[in-house]
Amino acid sequence: MDDLTATAAWGLLTAHRQAMARVHMRDLFAGDPNRFARFSLRVGELLIDYSKNLVTEETLRLLCDLARQAELPGWIERMYRGETVNGTERRPALHIALRNRSGEPIHVAGRDVMPVVASTLSKMGAFVAAVREGRKIGLTGQPLTSVVHIGIGGSDLGPRLAVAALASEKDPGPEIRFVANVDGQAIATCLDGLDPEKTLIVVASKSFSTAETMANAATAREWLTEKVGAAGVASHFVAVTAKASAACNFGIAPENIFDMWDWVGGRYSLWSAAGLPVALRLGMDAFTRLLEGAHAMDWHFRTAPLERNAPVILGLLGIWNVNFLGAASTAIVPYDERLALLPEYLQQLEMESNGKSMRRDGKRVSHGTAPVIWGGVGSRGQHAFHQFLHQGTSAVPVDFIAMSQSGHPVGRHHAMLLANLLAQAAALMQGRTREEVEADLVAAGHSSDEIARLAPHMLMPGNRASNVILGRQLDAFSLGAILALYEHKVFVQGIVWNIESFDQWGVEMGKRLAAQILPALEGQKLAAGPTDCSTAGLLDFLRDGGR
Ligand code: F6P
Repeated sequence: MDDLTATAAWGLLTAHRQAMARVHMRDLFAGDPNRFARFSLRVGELLIDYSKNLVTEETLRLLCDLARQAELPGWIERMYRGETVNGTERRPALHIALRNRSGEPIHVAGRDVMPVVASTLSKMGAFVAAVREGRKIGLTGQPLTSVVHIGIGGSDLGPRLAVAALASEKDPGPEIRFVANVDGQAIATCLDGLDPEKTLIVVASKSFSTAETMANAATAREWLTEKVGAAGVASHFVAVTAKASAACNFGIAPENIFDMWDWVGGRYSLWSAAGLPVALRLGMDAFTRLLEGAHAMDWHFRTAPLERNAPVILGLLGIWNVNFLGAASTAIVPYDERLALLPEYLQQLEMESNGKSMRRDGKRVSHGTAPVIWGGVGSRGQHAFHQFLHQGTSAVPVDFIAMSQSGHPVGRHHAMLLANLLAQAAALMQGRTREEVEADLVAAGHSSDEIARLAPHMLMPGNRASNVILGRQLDAFSLGAILALYEHKVFVQGIVWNIESFDQWGVEMGKRLAAQILPALEGQKLAAGPTDCSTAGLLDFLRDGGR
């Protein structure tokens, strides 16, 4: 496929969009009492309601045709068979192998990768048990009761999210702290109050060369060795990496190195040994449940017909909203405090994967790709950005996510929380007409002058799209399924948009320039790097200590 916008399916969708121009979702709901049943699906315990999108059965049929035109079913099989789906780096993308519970082999260049996956999992299991049972001790004989996880991007966001979402006070596992930012404040806060003798430090970096991670690892090593001596590195540090030799050079004992492979994309690290903090905090069984939840979604994605395939539907609805209805961003709004990090996690997943403007053949795309992903938890967001969602000049599709059962026994809070979610999705869809606003103002006893003055400000356009994703309870299995749902959604969009979802060349230049600028901030002359007068002026100000 060359230009997506030149395909027959795209043309038909463009015409269909014109036909939908005057349709309001309110009328679609009024005209079809079965709309919820028609436009929702179950995947295991998850319920995915996409009925509050401006779509008809015709829209979905055309979108599925677009996916077929982009050869999506063939690409899905290619990914599952370990073929190259990362074209620029000539690699497969096999996060599905990391959580493959089927017993089936998965081959890369003729070799089954499942044995190395299994052996790393069993090494993780033994290590996790030893730490949790106090058998793995530090250099001075103390049990390791705290874990510092150092990583950034995919080597940080997934484990950080999973621990925040799943850990509770009751778990007997060690305390876990995460540090990603190179801002020294972050590592200082992270290490504050910890006893080096009782601390395990995990350095997760596929490349073992990411500047932020290496700086934080070096600072943590200094902090540790100051108290326990240089010999402590071998017993207190572990690495998760595809570059074992670099980890060894850092001083990490070979038996404390957990493998990653080049066929695991950075954004998909959670499923590898980079998930170690999850297993350390919650136990290996919980980590296994996380993998099982993701695997259940992987199976659904591979086997369900496009029309009943949750990641396909979500991906195609995203394309409809971005490319045909003009949405520039998508909000992720979990009504669950434990999922507060989900918007940030999905920001990396979607924007680093699909924030691209070149087609797979190196020509520029002629259509939009990834929207901006943002969001925050409900109901807090209702008192911040929901005003914009309801009455702002641009419509933002929203994904609402919640669990029917709470993780706490606190009063009426859960019912109130869920009522708010349902109300927000309904309000975005329905809007509020002039007649409704005026009727309310009359009922409230306002004068006609007051009504004329206030009514325009109280109108709500409605017709604003949302998906509602509900589960039974937030546990390792359901979290695994939700994250895999989004991973495959992103894959679907990348295939249809005809872009390289698995690389991230755009982040490289900034890393290179930062390395060139750094010496100038440390008192040396700027030898290379940006020569523009803005950067030079800013540099001067910073070098002068802001004077
Ligand atoms: O931001 C670029 C990136 O390569 C991400 O894709 C990745 O998750 C992150 O940096 C960390 O990379 P590494 O695991 O190699 O340290």
